Amino acid sequence: AMAGDVAAMDWAALRAAVAGCRACGLCESRTQTVFGVGSEHAHLMIVGEAPGEQEDQQGEPFVGQAGKLLDNMLRSIGLTRSEGPPERQVFIANTLKCRPPRNRNPDPAETARCAPYLVRQIELVRPRVLLAMGRFAAQSLLASDEPIGKLRGRVHRWRDIPVVVTYHPAYLLRTLADKARAWDDLCLAAAVLEGEQR
Ligand code: URA
Repeated sequence: AMAGDVAAMDWAALRAAVAGCRACGLCESRTQTVFGVGSEHAHLMIVGEAPGEQEDQQGEPFVGQAGKLLDNMLRSIGLTRSEGPPERQVFIANTLKCRPPRNRNPDPAETARCAPYLVRQIELVRPRVLLAMGRFAAQSLLASDEPIGKLRGRVHRWRDIPVVVTYHPAYLLRTLADKARAWDDLCLAAAVLEGEQR
Protein backbone atom coordinates (compact mmCIF):
# COMPACT_ATOMS: atom_id res chain seq x y z
CA ALA A 1 0.00 0.00 0.00
CA MET A 2 1.10 3.56 -0.61
CA ALA A 3 1.51 5.99 2.28
CA GLY A 4 -1.52 8.02 1.17
CA ASP A 5 -3.79 4.98 1.38
CA VAL A 6 -2.46 3.98 4.78
CA ALA A 7 -3.29 7.42 6.18
CA ALA A 8 -7.02 6.80 5.58
CA MET A 9 -7.22 3.21 6.86
CA ASP A 10 -9.33 1.93 9.74
CA TRP A 11 -7.98 -0.74 12.09
CA ALA A 12 -9.11 -3.66 9.93
CA ALA A 13 -7.64 -2.24 6.73
CA LEU A 14 -4.42 -1.31 8.49
CA ARG A 15 -4.03 -4.78 10.01
CA ALA A 16 -4.55 -6.35 6.59
CA ALA A 17 -2.11 -3.95 4.90
CA VAL A 18 0.61 -4.71 7.45
CA ALA A 19 0.00 -8.47 7.24
CA GLY A 20 0.48 -8.41 3.48
CA CYS A 21 3.17 -5.73 3.27
CA ARG A 22 5.94 -6.14 0.69
CA ALA A 23 7.30 -2.60 0.86
CA CYS A 24 10.84 -3.61 1.82
CA GLY A 25 13.13 -6.62 1.75
CA LEU A 26 12.25 -7.73 5.29
CA CYS A 27 9.13 -9.40 3.88
CA GLU A 28 11.41 -12.05 2.34
CA SER A 29 12.88 -13.23 5.64
CA ARG A 30 10.01 -12.71 8.10
CA THR A 31 7.89 -15.54 9.46
CA GLN A 32 5.05 -13.10 10.00
CA THR A 33 4.47 -9.40 10.60
CA VAL A 34 4.07 -8.11 14.15
CA PHE A 35 1.31 -5.52 14.18
CA GLY A 36 1.04 -4.58 17.84
CA VAL A 37 -1.01 -5.53 20.87
CA GLY A 38 -3.21 -3.92 23.49
CA SER A 39 -6.06 -1.46 23.67
CA GLU A 40 -7.07 0.47 20.54
CA HIS A 41 -8.00 3.26 22.99
CA ALA A 42 -4.95 3.06 25.25
CA HIS A 43 -3.97 6.20 27.13
CA LEU A 44 -0.32 5.10 26.95
CA MET A 45 1.19 3.83 23.70
CA ILE A 46 4.62 2.23 23.75
CA VAL A 47 6.87 2.17 20.70
CA GLY A 48 9.76 -0.30 20.45
CA GLU A 49 12.27 -1.08 17.74
CA ALA A 50 11.53 -4.22 15.75
CA PRO A 51 10.46 -7.82 16.28
CA GLY A 52 13.13 -10.25 17.42
CA GLU A 53 13.18 -13.99 16.88
CA GLN A 54 10.37 -14.87 19.30
CA GLU A 55 8.19 -11.97 18.17
CA ASP A 56 8.64 -13.06 14.54
CA GLN A 57 7.58 -16.58 15.57
CA GLN A 58 4.61 -15.57 17.72
CA GLY A 59 3.38 -12.43 15.95
CA GLU A 60 3.28 -10.38 19.15
CA PRO A 61 5.69 -7.62 20.24
CA PHE A 62 7.95 -8.00 23.26
CA VAL A 63 7.34 -11.65 24.12
CA GLY A 64 11.02 -12.49 24.78
CA GLN A 65 13.19 -11.62 27.80
CA ALA A 66 12.99 -7.89 27.11
CA GLY A 67 9.22 -8.23 27.01
CA LYS A 68 9.13 -9.84 30.44
CA LEU A 69 11.07 -6.90 31.83
CA LEU A 70 8.70 -4.50 30.06
CA ASP A 71 5.65 -6.29 31.50
CA ASN A 72 7.14 -6.11 35.00
CA MET A 73 7.91 -2.41 34.63
CA LEU A 74 4.37 -1.75 33.40
CA ARG A 75 2.86 -3.79 36.22
CA SER A 76 4.79 -1.72 38.75
CA ILE A 77 2.82 1.36 37.68
CA GLY A 78 -0.50 -0.47 37.36
CA LEU A 79 -0.44 -0.96 33.57
CA THR A 80 -0.82 -4.08 31.43
CA ARG A 81 -0.86 -5.29 27.81
CA SER A 82 -3.70 -7.70 28.69
CA GLU A 83 -7.41 -6.96 29.04
CA GLY A 84 -8.14 -3.78 30.96
CA PRO A 85 -9.77 -0.36 30.66
CA PRO A 86 -7.95 2.15 28.37
CA GLU A 87 -6.34 3.88 31.33
CA ARG A 88 -4.72 0.60 32.37
CA GLN A 89 -4.24 -1.33 29.11
CA VAL A 90 -1.42 0.01 26.97
CA PHE A 91 -0.92 -0.41 23.23
CA ILE A 92 2.50 -1.73 22.20
CA ALA A 93 3.85 -1.35 18.66
CA ASN A 94 7.24 -1.41 17.00
CA THR A 95 8.93 0.98 14.60
CA LEU A 96 9.39 -1.94 12.17
CA LYS A 97 6.68 -4.55 11.78
CA CYS A 98 9.09 -7.21 10.48
CA ARG A 99 12.16 -8.79 12.04
CA PRO A 100 15.51 -7.69 10.61
CA PRO A 101 17.67 -10.76 9.88
CA ARG A 102 19.82 -11.73 12.90
CA ASN A 103 18.25 -8.75 14.75
CA ARG A 104 20.48 -6.27 12.94
CA ASN A 105 19.65 -2.58 13.33
CA PRO A 106 16.76 -1.20 11.28
CA ASP A 107 17.99 0.41 8.10
CA PRO A 108 16.79 3.97 7.36
CA ALA A 109 15.03 2.90 4.14
CA GLU A 110 13.13 0.17 6.03
CA THR A 111 12.15 2.63 8.75
CA ALA A 112 10.91 5.12 6.14
CA ARG A 113 8.85 2.46 4.32
CA CYS A 114 7.31 1.22 7.56
CA ALA A 115 6.67 4.63 9.18
CA PRO A 116 3.18 5.23 7.70
CA TYR A 117 1.90 2.16 9.59
CA LEU A 118 3.14 3.44 12.94
CA VAL A 119 1.83 6.93 12.18
CA ARG A 120 -1.61 5.52 11.40
CA GLN A 121 -1.55 3.39 14.57
CA ILE A 122 -0.81 6.50 16.64
CA GLU A 123 -3.57 8.44 14.86
CA LEU A 124 -6.10 5.67 15.52
CA VAL A 125 -5.15 5.08 19.16
CA ARG A 126 -4.80 8.81 19.90
CA PRO A 127 -2.81 8.05 23.08
CA ARG A 128 -2.41 10.71 25.74
CA VAL A 129 1.28 9.85 26.03
CA LEU A 130 3.80 8.05 23.81
CA LEU A 131 6.70 6.17 25.39
CA ALA A 132 9.56 5.64 22.95
CA MET A 133 11.87 2.82 23.97
CA GLY A 134 15.37 2.85 22.55
CA ARG A 135 17.27 4.87 20.00
CA PHE A 136 15.42 3.77 16.87
CA ALA A 137 11.95 4.45 18.26
CA ALA A 138 12.99 7.80 19.73
CA GLN A 139 14.92 8.98 16.71
CA SER A 140 12.22 8.02 14.23
CA LEU A 141 9.34 9.55 16.24
CA LEU A 142 11.24 12.73 17.00
CA ALA A 143 13.20 12.97 13.72
CA SER A 144 16.28 13.48 15.88
CA ASP A 145 19.76 12.01 15.87
CA GLU A 146 20.46 12.70 19.54
CA PRO A 147 21.29 9.71 21.75
CA ILE A 148 18.82 8.39 24.36
CA GLY A 149 20.91 9.87 27.16
CA LYS A 150 20.23 13.32 25.72
CA LEU A 151 16.57 12.78 24.81
CA ARG A 152 15.37 11.22 28.06
CA GLY A 153 14.31 13.21 31.11
CA ARG A 154 12.14 15.77 29.33
CA VAL A 155 8.85 15.76 27.45
CA HIS A 156 8.95 15.98 23.65
CA ARG A 157 6.00 16.16 21.25
CA TRP A 158 4.91 14.06 18.30
CA ARG A 159 2.40 16.44 16.71
CA ASP A 160 0.36 17.37 19.83
CA ILE A 161 1.10 14.18 21.79
CA PRO A 162 3.64 14.23 24.65
CA VAL A 163 6.55 11.83 24.10
CA VAL A 164 8.73 10.40 26.85
CA VAL A 165 11.95 8.68 25.80
CA THR A 166 13.58 5.82 27.68
CA TYR A 167 16.11 3.03 27.28
CA HIS A 168 15.19 -0.12 25.42
CA PRO A 169 14.42 -2.97 27.85
CA ALA A 170 16.90 -5.28 26.03
CA TYR A 171 19.59 -2.69 26.81
CA LEU A 172 18.47 -2.56 30.45
CA LEU A 173 18.95 -6.33 30.73
CA ARG A 174 22.63 -5.75 29.91
CA THR A 175 23.09 -2.46 31.76
CA LEU A 176 21.66 -2.69 35.25
CA ALA A 177 23.15 0.71 36.10
CA ASP A 178 20.57 2.44 33.90
CA LYS A 179 17.54 0.69 35.42
CA ALA A 180 17.06 3.48 37.96
CA ARG A 181 16.99 6.02 35.14
CA ALA A 182 14.43 3.91 33.25
CA TRP A 183 12.33 3.86 36.40
CA ASP A 184 12.50 7.67 36.51
CA ASP A 185 11.40 7.77 32.85
CA LEU A 186 8.42 5.54 33.57
CA CYS A 187 7.43 7.76 36.47
CA LEU A 188 7.71 10.79 34.18
CA ALA A 189 5.40 9.11 31.65
CA ALA A 190 2.93 8.27 34.45
CA ALA A 191 3.02 11.87 35.70
CA VAL A 192 2.38 13.25 32.21
CA LEU A 193 -0.50 10.73 31.79
CA GLU A 194 -1.95 11.95 35.06
CA GLY A 195 -1.88 15.54 33.82
CA GLU A 196 -3.28 14.93 30.32
CA GLN A 197 -7.04 15.44 29.98
CA ARG A 198 -9.10 14.35 27.00
N1 URA B 1 12.47 -5.49 20.96
C1 URA B 1 11.66 -4.60 20.38
O1 URA B 1 11.99 -3.44 20.19
N2 URA B 1 10.45 -5.01 20.00
C2 URA B 1 10.01 -6.25 20.20
O2 URA B 1 8.87 -6.52 19.84
C3 URA B 1 10.88 -7.17 20.83
C4 URA B 1 12.10 -6.76 21.19
